[in-house]
Amino acid sequence: MSDNKCILVTGGAGYIGSHTVVELVNAGYDPVVIDNCANAVRASENGRPGSIKRIEKIVDKKIIYYDIDLLNKAALDDLFAKHSFIAVIHFAGLKAVGESIEIPIEYYKVNICGTLNLIECMKKYQVSNLVFSSSATVYGTPQYLPIDENHTVGSCTNPYGKSKYFIEEILRDVGKAEKDWNIILLRYFNPVGSHKSGLIGEDPQGTPNNLMPYVAQVAIGRRSQLSIFGGDYDTPDGTGVRDYIHVVDLALGHIAALKKVSTKCGLKVYNLGTGKGYSVLDMVRGMEKASGKKIPYKIVDRRDGDVGSCYAEVTLAQTELGWKSDRNLEEMCEDLWRWQTKNPKGFQTDNSS
Ligand code: WQD
Repeated sequence: MSDNKCILVTGGAGYIGSHTVVELVNAGYDPVVIDNCANAVRASENGRPGSIKRIEKIVDKKIIYYDIDLLNKAALDDLFAKHSFIAVIHFAGLKAVGESIEIPIEYYKVNICGTLNLIECMKKYQVSNLVFSSSATVYGTPQYLPIDENHTVGSCTNPYGKSKYFIEEILRDVGKAEKDWNIILLRYFNPVGSHKSGLIGEDPQGTPNNLMPYVAQVAIGRRSQLSIFGGDYDTPDGTGVRDYIHVVDLALGHIAALKKVSTKCGLKVYNLGTGKGYSVLDMVRGMEKASGKKIPYKIVDRRDGDVGSCYAEVTLAQTELGWKSDRNLEEMCEDLWRWQTKNPKGFQTDNSS
């Protein structure tokens, strides 16, 4: 029985990727990270991403990292020639819904062509186990709630969500053609929070698109007020309801998927969520409790493309992966606040590496 535990993690310096790398090491795997730092911050000019240094501090172990872009096929081929991977966890990609509407070509090029380069290398070097970072966005406007994995997909309107849907369809076709491939598609709901150490977390560049990084920046005084997009949805308090899942629970879901994908499972799809929906105001109150700060807000018009409620049906992952989320709203907010207070300006301030 080979003791090879070498896992390629594309985008492993990003928010979810870095938390997953920590859990991979904790689970006894040997992660190799590639990241072009499109969504990660370098600790110094042309240096390694700040998150890699922090991961090493958490796990007390060197992390192999390469500054490789998935669009650089030659570099990717050299990487596969150098390491014998037993599986790939594929996070790398552009991920801002609003930005994708402005620059669709870039999103399709990076997300889809990058993935095609990756799976071509996997095929050439006979790496046949893949865990793909997909998104609940592929469900589009929920036809029913909670959303299960049989819900229709592909009706999402933004290029980011479409790119995730197109990649899912590409992987389905690859799975049909390559009988020995095992592919797991993980559809995330809303990842929030940070590792307990406060050393790694979500570090959006510029104005945060997502709710919780924005709320945390208001709480710490980097921003003056939260705009709540819509107060007239058909929800308990009129504000949008989402399924917020702690990023460490999400990372552990990847470890469970990795174990499953090495059991000749073929192609499988799983929601990674909590199955609970919380409103924007619930999250504001959660952060006020965790930070002890008042969070000023104003209710403004709805944001284009938003839905009122979206939360997951989560029993399939529990039954087939033996995984469920454990961390509650209070822990999500406490861990996010610890990250925010320890890193008021994110990774940029870390020039120690
Ligand atoms: C959550 C709620 C907003 C910001 C998106 C992507 C999805 C995934 C997660 C990548 C909504 C409200 C937000 C703000 C607000 N990303 N809000 N003021 O839109 O559910 O999902 O991020 O995979 O693919 O679509 O997350 O955090 O942007 O919004 O009122 O400043 O907070 O209206 O109700 P969303 P979000």
